[in-house]
Amino acid sequence: MRNITIFDTTLRDGEQSPGASMNLAEKLEVAQALVDLKVDVIEAGFPIASPGDFEAVRAIAGAVKGVQVCGLARCNPKDIDRAWEALQGAENPRIHVFLATSAIHREFKLKMDKAEIIRRAVEGVERAKGYCPNIEFSPEDAARTEVDFLCEVVEAAIAAGATTVNIPDTVGYATPTHMGGVIRTLRERVPNIDQAVISVHCHNDLGMAVANSLAAVENGAGQVECTINGIGERAGNCSLEEIVMALRTRGDYYKADTRIHTPRLVPTSRLVSSITGLEVQRNKAIVGRNAFAHEAGIHQDGMLKERSTYEIMRPEDVGVSKTDLVLGKHSGRAALADRATALGYAIEGKELDDVFEAFKKLADKKKEIYDADIAALIDKRTSAG
Ligand code: KIV
Ligand code: ZN
Repeated sequence: MRNITIFDTTLRDGEQSPGASMNLAEKLEVAQALVDLKVDVIEAGFPIASPGDFEAVRAIAGAVKGVQVCGLARCNPKDIDRAWEALQGAENPRIHVFLATSAIHREFKLKMDKAEIIRRAVEGVERAKGYCPNIEFSPEDAARTEVDFLCEVVEAAIAAGATTVNIPDTVGYATPTHMGGVIRTLRERVPNIDQAVISVHCHNDLGMAVANSLAAVENGAGQVECTINGIGERAGNCSLEEIVMALRTRGDYYKADTRIHTPRLVPTSRLVSSITGLEVQRNKAIVGRNAFAHEAGIHQDGMLKERSTYEIMRPEDVGVSKTDLVLGKHSGRAALADRATALGYAIEGKELDDVFEAFKKLADKKKEIYDADIAALIDKRTSAG
C-alpha cells in the first residue's frame, strides 16, 4: 500500500467559502481536531491576506504538534517573508508558493509571458527555500495550462528546491481522464519529477473533485489537498472524508491508503459545520445524516440478516455509533419487529400483523415514525386486545 499524504486546507481554501470565516479560537479548535484526525499537513491560512490570518497561522504554528503546518504565499518576496514570519514557530513548517500558469491567467490577470512566469516561480521557490526545507509550489490553474509549459514550470520549480509540486484544478474544469492524464504526463516527461511529491488540488465546480483526485492518485499523485465537508471557494474542494474513505474502502483497487483516524471523521465534520454555519446536506456521502440510514423494507430486512448486504462501510469506522433503520412508509415487518424488541416489547403473530397495519396507515400520514409512535401503537393495540 502507498501512503497518500493528506493536506488539509479547511482553514485556508475552506475558509474562503462565502460565509465561512472563523475567529482565532475557532481556528485553533479546528486545527486541534485536524491533529486528532491525523492529517499530515494543515494549511493554516494565507498570512499576507489580513492581520487576522497572520495571527491565526502564527498561533496554530505555535500550538499544534506532530503535524506539518503550512502557510500560503504568492510568488513575491513580501508574501513569502510574511508567510515565514507567521510559520517560524512551527515544529515542522511548510511554505506554499503559487503562481498562475494558464494562458488565461497569464494574459488577463498577470500580464506576463511564459519566460517571466518561470523566472518568478524559480525566484519564489528559492526565496522560500532560504527559510525552510519543505516548499510546495502550485502552478495555479494547472488543469487549463498547456501541458508542455506545465512540464517546463514543474521542472524549474523542482530544480529550484520545491519538495512538493501541487497541480491545482483551480476552477473545477477537469474530468477524471483529463486529471489522470496530466499527472501521468508529468511523470513521463519531467526528468526530475522523482525529487518531489506530486500533489493534486481539485475544485468541485462540476461535482468531480473527489473523482479527479482519485484519478490523480491512480496515476501517481502522492498527496491530496482537501477540506472537511468539501467546503471551499464556490462549489468547494475535494472532500476529505470522501477521498479518505474511498481509498480505505477500495484499497484493493487503488493500492493506497492514508494515516487518517477515520472514527474522527463525523465528529470533525460536525465541528466544522457548527463553527462555519455551513450545513452538511442530509444525503452527503460519509458524514450526512442519511449516509448510514435505511428506510426501504427490502434493505432493512437485508441489513437485519447481514449488514454487508447494503453497507460497504461500517458506521463506527467513520464515527457513527450505529446504522439507522428509519421507520417510514417503505419499511417492512422485520424492521418494525426489531424496533419493538429494542423498545422492550415482545410482539409476534397476529399482534404484530395488527400493529404493522396500524403502522402503515400512520406512515402514510407522517414522513418519519419515531419510537414514541411505535410505543403508542403497541400500547393501544395491547390495551384494546
Ligand atoms: O485553487 C487553487 O488553485 C488554489 C491554489 C492557491 C493552490 O487554491
Ligand atoms: Zn483552491
